[in-house]
Amino acid sequence: MPSTLPPDSLAWSLLLAARAVAAVRDGKSLTEGLLVSAGEAPATRAAAADVAYGVLRRYGWGDFILGRLLEKALPHPEVHALLLAALYRLETRPEATHTVVDQAVAAAGEIAGGAFRGLVNGVLRNFLRQRESLLAAAAGDDEAALQHPRWWLNKLRRAWPADWQRVVAAGNAQAPMTLRVNRRHATPAAYLARLADAGIGARRVGACGLLLERPAAVDALPGFADGWVSVQDAGAQRAAELLAPAPGSRVLDACAAPGGKTAHLLEMAGEAGLDLLALDIDALRTRRIEDNLRRLGLAATVRVADCAEVGGWWDERPFDAILADVPCSASGVVRRHPDSKWLRRESDIRRFAKTQAAILDALWPLLRPGGRLLYATCSVFPEENGGQIDAFCVRQPGAERLAEEQLLPQDDHDGFYYALLRKSA
Ligand SMILES: C[S@@+](CC[C@H](N)C(=O)[O-])C[C@H]1O[C@@H](n2cnc3c(N)ncnc32)[C@H](O)[C@@H]1O
Repeated sequence: MPSTLPPDSLAWSLLLAARAVAAVRDGKSLTEGLLVSAGEAPATRAAAADVAYGVLRRYGWGDFILGRLLEKALPHPEVHALLLAALYRLETRPEATHTVVDQAVAAAGEIAGGAFRGLVNGVLRNFLRQRESLLAAAAGDDEAALQHPRWWLNKLRRAWPADWQRVVAAGNAQAPMTLRVNRRHATPAAYLARLADAGIGARRVGACGLLLERPAAVDALPGFADGWVSVQDAGAQRAAELLAPAPGSRVLDACAAPGGKTAHLLEMAGEAGLDLLALDIDALRTRRIEDNLRRLGLAATVRVADCAEVGGWWDERPFDAILADVPCSASGVVRRHPDSKWLRRESDIRRFAKTQAAILDALWPLLRPGGRLLYATCSVFPEENGGQIDAFCVRQPGAERLAEEQLLPQDDHDGFYYALLRKSA
């Protein structure tokens, strides 16, 4: 049945956000969940995304509060998610409590024939009545106060006894938008001036990054369509800088989609380019490598393949350099993907570590003697990072560790780990 809610109403964005959050609770990524608003106007999509991201950033808190307000689990996942969305709005816009409650009740009218309107109204009014005591209780609960699953917090505390609180705070913050300037077109300083002319404030970060004062639509960025800049976190930009393959050399980017690091490697190689093979196991994501290279005017061979199944794609010619940007927990980028905190299970980390070890073991023989392999993750968990590389160096005594960086997430960049390994000649 078509909705009777105006598309620019708070009720409609609460409902769309609730549908997206319900999809995440059902195991989907937030990007997939937000496809519910794909047909909407840009402003409506942005409003729904804003609420959905907010709910997932504060999911631990919302779930705790609802646990106190509901006598039993709700039979309808969208109603549960709608209550989370309304609680989020009540806390972030306390001046508009009556509007939020009314709009949430209107949104509830669109679910299950309106059967839960009274419940939504009652739960939200109870929240407002008991707010002080509920907030006090939430402040005493780790998962509610720190907005990360308990097992995740325990891992962070063990790994980073002095820094874990900063890691948690960075994970709960809103991510900035950072650009990588394509050095084939401009220096970062020259592009900074172009941005200023366009009224976009930014500052330098890293060797060729610019951090915007406020996120902007890519179409508003001067020269974006012509490949002058790409959107890439400053921490991710370290990969190409560390591997820095010689222009013209033969390079494998084993887990390349959507191609951010592939493109950076090629930009750095200048006119000589690279003989670069970019693989990814995911066909849809692999198409995004091609789109990105086309926009940037760069050339590489792009293939859909499982990099660990070497027999299926390798032509027996060794590589001078390999980038292994392996699948991981993404625990360093939760401020961009708050859904991942709640989708992961503790057992996933062991599973990732096993896959990463298999990829490393499969790729190492493909490197020429004297060649360099950069192992990269966007994780802050040691078993995917230093622990993984310690174990690898025991298995492969011919691997020499040239450099190792663990970037913990902070204002200027996400969390990344890099280990640059050299194969003895
Ligand atoms: C961290 S992302 C890569 C990001 C990319 N390097 C960039 O900078 O844009 C990891 C990628 O590994 C891919 N992947 C996972 N397992 C793979 C495998 N066995 N072989 C090739 N690609 C794989 C995933 O599809 C995903 O696109």
